[in-house]
Amino acid sequence: MTRFNPYLLEEKEYPIAVLVERFNQMRAEGRDVVNLTIGDPQDDAFPLVIKKLKEVIAPARRFGYPRGIGSKSYLESVKTWAKHSYDIDIEPDTEVISCNGTKEAIFSVPLAFDWSGGKEIFIPSLSYPVYEASARTLNIPIKMLPLSEAGNFLPDLDSISPEEWRRCGLFWLNSPHNPTTAVAGKEYFAKLLELAEKYDFMLCSDECYNELYYGSAKPVSAMDFHESRRWIVFRSLSKRSHMTGFRCGAIISKNKEVIKMLSRMRQAMGVGTPSFIQEAAREAWLDENHCVAMRESYLKKRDIILAALKKQGFHVFGAEAGFYLWVSHPSLDTSDAISDWFIAAGMLITPGTAFGSDGEGFARIVYCLTDNACYDVAARIESHTTP
Ligand SMILES: Cc1ncc(COP(=O)(O)O)c(C=O)c1O
Repeated sequence: MTRFNPYLLEEKEYPIAVLVERFNQMRAEGRDVVNLTIGDPQDDAFPLVIKKLKEVIAPARRFGYPRGIGSKSYLESVKTWAKHSYDIDIEPDTEVISCNGTKEAIFSVPLAFDWSGGKEIFIPSLSYPVYEASARTLNIPIKMLPLSEAGNFLPDLDSISPEEWRRCGLFWLNSPHNPTTAVAGKEYFAKLLELAEKYDFMLCSDECYNELYYGSAKPVSAMDFHESRRWIVFRSLSKRSHMTGFRCGAIISKNKEVIKMLSRMRQAMGVGTPSFIQEAAREAWLDENHCVAMRESYLKKRDIILAALKKQGFHVFGAEAGFYLWVSHPSLDTSDAISDWFIAAGMLITPGTAFGSDGEGFARIVYCLTDNACYDVAARIESHTTP
């Protein structure tokens, strides 16, 4: 009998895939329903990227294998962006690698470390599901860190004992956070990086929503800590420049040894980003104006839906960053009850429990939609019976 990885044999499907399946079924039954489950921006990609892509492809007769860790010019563009955004000097040859979107980089990063001594991966209890899927597929022990609204949906670092910290190998932090929109401040990052130094672990800082913020202050990045060698930052063009389909991002660390090992591993994996994608993507790293416009556009979209939710008595946590709304309602005390209310109103949303049991009582709604779709969603919310 063919034997498979036990984790893959578990009946657990990737939560978003299950919801998409449900959406397709409802559509097939002829129901008028909008899908508010996936963080895939519906507005156009940054136009200069599309223009450049056409220019690069039009005269080409062939494209050879790409450089596995990213072309020199691509890595240079990330360096320029990092200097402009965080005033940090990143050496393109030794401190940054390209990736095919951050999802594959996030999934594979634990492979670069030694897990034989009982080290664990620390994961916030409500998280992007890939952190856990990767650890479980690779059979690496996990420590789940509880999250709650009272704790602003950030792991309570003081509740972790020295003995527990000593077992930490990698710590996943995602700020701004999917699904809750929680944002970790400077002190939080500083404390975590001090702990990483003291207990010898790496902070994996997943920052794919970092440029989507609606207050005046830009969310803190691990890259604000220029001297630390304890972070690995994952940055993506997917949300920043509406380039989900390009599969393009960067892994950055001032820890050259980490980058060296990741380079070695990733060259063997063959995950080099196609050269024409890298060439076009440079345009996105080198331009900040489109991010300013994007923030204005998302603020408008957020407020259209937020106003409707408030009218119906929903409570919305945070919402100062990212493009999700993390909602609860005093009359709908389970995630399923919230989800059912939305389905009855013609919208499919993600129950908070899809991200983990600490999500009970909450649900996530996306607003990375066209403006017209946002008005439609607001109308559906407002015209449905109040819970
Ligand atoms: C928290 C978080 N990290 C990483 C990703 C991966 O994005 P990409 O692979 O497009 O860079 C996503 C995508 O939704 C996400 O929500």
